[in-house]
Amino acid sequence: MTKPLVVVFGATGNQGGSILRVLAEHPNSYTVRAITRSTQSKSAQELAAQYPHVEWVEADLDDSPSLLPAVADADVVFAVTQFFQPSVMAAISTNENAEFEQGKRIVDACVAKRVGYLIFSTLPSAKKLSNGEITTVLHFEGKAKIQEYMLSQPIDSAIIQMGIYFQNNLQGARWDDAEDSIVIGFPGDVDKKLAYVDVNRDTGPFVKYIIDNRDKAKGKVFPVCSGYYSARDIAEALTKATGLKAKAIPVPLDIITDTDLRGMFELFSKYELFADTPNHMEVNKAIPFEFTTPETFWKASGFQGAPKLQK
Ligand SMILES: NC(=O)c1ccc[n+]([C@@H]2O[C@H](COP(=O)([O-])OP(=O)(O)OC[C@H]3O[C@@H](n4cnc5c(N)ncnc54)[C@H](OP(=O)(O)O)[C@@H]3O)[C@@H](O)[C@H]2O)c1
Repeated sequence: MTKPLVVVFGATGNQGGSILRVLAEHPNSYTVRAITRSTQSKSAQELAAQYPHVEWVEADLDDSPSLLPAVADADVVFAVTQFFQPSVMAAISTNENAEFEQGKRIVDACVAKRVGYLIFSTLPSAKKLSNGEITTVLHFEGKAKIQEYMLSQPIDSAIIQMGIYFQNNLQGARWDDAEDSIVIGFPGDVDKKLAYVDVNRDTGPFVKYIIDNRDKAKGKVFPVCSGYYSARDIAEALTKATGLKAKAIPVPLDIITDTDLRGMFELFSKYELFADTPNHMEVNKAIPFEFTTPETFWKASGFQGAPKLQK
């Protein structure tokens, strides 16, 4: 069998970077083309030096013509959109479809270039999951719309949907003098178990599994989830892994001013993110890989302490 050419969008980021590293470590099995807006950026330069056999191509999701050569001759394309990037954030207040339009451009380019298989990182519709109650989570709705569009197009495809990144806790942890502890503030119920993932470590092996089983995966949605944990589990694991005192503290939802994020945490507290794919953890068992736990995450993170909480 010839080696598939796999094109990786977001190659300098979390999801794409994880996929790039795993595929690049198997140069006899995959030819990898990494996409970035700038091959001169520090992260692109570092990865290019580390994996010299990876081809780098510049393309921009806001520039349709740049996407055609990026996906040309690809057997597989992995695509991700970054809602929280300047061009989408600038457009979103007047154009709710800004993220969808980026995704549509990739899908259209892949269809035009007769790409063999497209794997898109999306999320479910919060509106649909909540039966119309939660309508403000635009970074879910745009991705759900990309998914719907992709599945309507003449191209073989599969979908991944990422759980909550364990990595968010690295930014969120604070030292609180009053608690004499590190605190992990969680908007909602600190005992509700939610779908988490180590985006940097676990995405690559999961997507490699889909690439290796393309026929079986066709048309399916795969939550990428290392396991279900509560904020309290994550704080306790921090203590176990590092010896540092840590506790999870509930944060009231109404102090979150961003309506998109507030809606997301409301969704997490009342509904299940992966309700549409109930037995999804079964897939993890088929993947020869030890998925990250909160304890292994904290150990590997090198976390040594959090900045002081500003009250
Ligand atoms: N945080 C969470 O818990 C969580 C959970 C589930 C899903 N998500 C979703 O994950 C997505 C972000 O994925 P990530 O964490 O992998 O992102 P990331 O680490 O911020 O990386 C974003 C990547 O996208 C590329 N990129 C950005 N704008 C681009 C453009 N206009 N054209 C081409 N490439 C572009 C960047 O490449 P260059 O800079 O090299 O061009 C970079 O490699 C978000 O949409 C978010 O909603 C997040």
